[in-house]
Amino acid sequence: MKRVVVGTFALLAAAVVWSGANVAAEQAAPAAAAPTFNKDIAPILYANCTSCHRPGEIAPMSLITYKDARPWAKAIASKVADGTMPPWHADPRYGKFVGERRLSDDQKSTLAKWVAAGAPEGNAADLPAPPAYNDGWNITPDVVLSMQEDYPIPAAGEVPYQYMVVPANFTEDRFISDWEIRPGDRRAVHHILLYLLAPKEVVEAQMKRQQQAMLNRMFGPPPAAAANAAPRPAPPFEFACCVQIPDGQSGGRPLPKDQQKDPGPNYRARPVGMAQGMGGFSPGGSIRHFPEGMGMRIPAGYSLVFQMHYTTYGKATTDRSKIGLKFAKTQPKTILNTMALINASLSIPPGEANYTIDNAMTFNRETVIYSLVPHTHVRGTGWHYEVTYPDGRKDVVLSVPKYDFNWQHEYIFTQPLRLPAGSKLYAKAWYDNSTRNKSNPDPTKTVTWGDQTWEEMMYTSITFYNPPPSTTSAQQQR
Ligand code: HEC
Repeated sequence: MKRVVVGTFALLAAAVVWSGANVAAEQAAPAAAAPTFNKDIAPILYANCTSCHRPGEIAPMSLITYKDARPWAKAIASKVADGTMPPWHADPRYGKFVGERRLSDDQKSTLAKWVAAGAPEGNAADLPAPPAYNDGWNITPDVVLSMQEDYPIPAAGEVPYQYMVVPANFTEDRFISDWEIRPGDRRAVHHILLYLLAPKEVVEAQMKRQQQAMLNRMFGPPPAAAANAAPRPAPPFEFACCVQIPDGQSGGRPLPKDQQKDPGPNYRARPVGMAQGMGGFSPGGSIRHFPEGMGMRIPAGYSLVFQMHYTTYGKATTDRSKIGLKFAKTQPKTILNTMALINASLSIPPGEANYTIDNAMTFNRETVIYSLVPHTHVRGTGWHYEVTYPDGRKDVVLSVPKYDFNWQHEYIFTQPLRLPAGSKLYAKAWYDNSTRNKSNPDPTKTVTWGDQTWEEMMYTSITFYNPPPSTTSAQQQR
């Protein structure tokens, strides 16, 4: 062991001499202690890399042991230096986010020096314990809910979105402090969106109300109801334009029967009564942890729906994905909801390298934004979000200059954005439909809104809550 250290020192010292006297004076001290895996590198990898780089996770190789990491030393140095690893796409100038995956300059230079010194292992006694992963889970779930079948996925071809009902069977409302989705076959599961599904009675009551509302619009309300009707409150938020999703795409109306494509023998249709979205799984984002006092609610009797986007990979397989839930110890004061800011009117001309589209929403009630998930498909290249406050002040709240479809990050604000009534959120997305975009499946095609990755979206999922109006007005009165 000693000999390795001395040898490394000699090598570095020689390099220093070649590179000139001034540099030698500066670098002699650090060179004397070349970083080792056990002492310096393992702590960096455990804190920043092994959540993905361990057996059974999304990264192609484990970086837990020296034996695992040693063959990748050069690749580590280059991926860290060029900023592709750890994956994180927000411009550091705007916003502060929970769990930002970024190495400090110190950590980067330690990795570079380790690799330059021949990636030595070091003293066994220096090696910290590897992080504990709980049977594959990153959280400690109180309950695990699974898909009800091993869903068959063919070797090739395109699979339309499938909707898997995952019963929860809670007899009382449950409040969730953490969840984690674990796909069954990671190679086939491109992403999963999570929704609540109301029980039959609730859906039927809702449909009755909708029918009545339609009758009222057509024939006027029944006289008694009209006399008692309260003025309709303003919606909590309003969109500038273009949120009507095209027929036949998820979220839009179904196509007329004669235009519907045969969805195949294993089609699991979108169930009636699918309610609010709760987030989802995608590469780089499979876990939610809500801070003390915040959480999501799964009402008694509701089920979950997994909207599955499968991609085929040359081998027939099956998938049974699951979700682990951790219950909040006490009922959180703040229940988070989700909504989406979209622009479904996009139409990207063939070959267009710099297509942009935007949209905005105005908040009629005070709204606190907890997180943003920008989502475009393989032609998406960038995102920009700006808030205009009622006093006219503007603030860039998130910028993703090099959007990468392979990484669907949830950007959770360390200080949730508190937007007074009258604030506006503006979003803009960029697309490259030219041959310059290496992920472009067909630069000769005009691209419009669609579920599939060769179609496009301009979609931002927003997790938020509306603080109760009484607290602010009470404070203002005092
Ligand atoms: C959020 C998950 C995640 C984290 C965190 C992460 N990686 Fe990765 N890494 C991946 C995935 C997935 C790939 C393969 C796909 C790709 O290259 O984009 C990858 C690829 C790599 C590669 C290239 C492997 C090859 O085939 O050439 C290297 C090297 C690497 N990661 C190093 C690191 C290091 C070092 C860290 C920590 C500083 C890190 N990664 C953190 C998910 C992650």
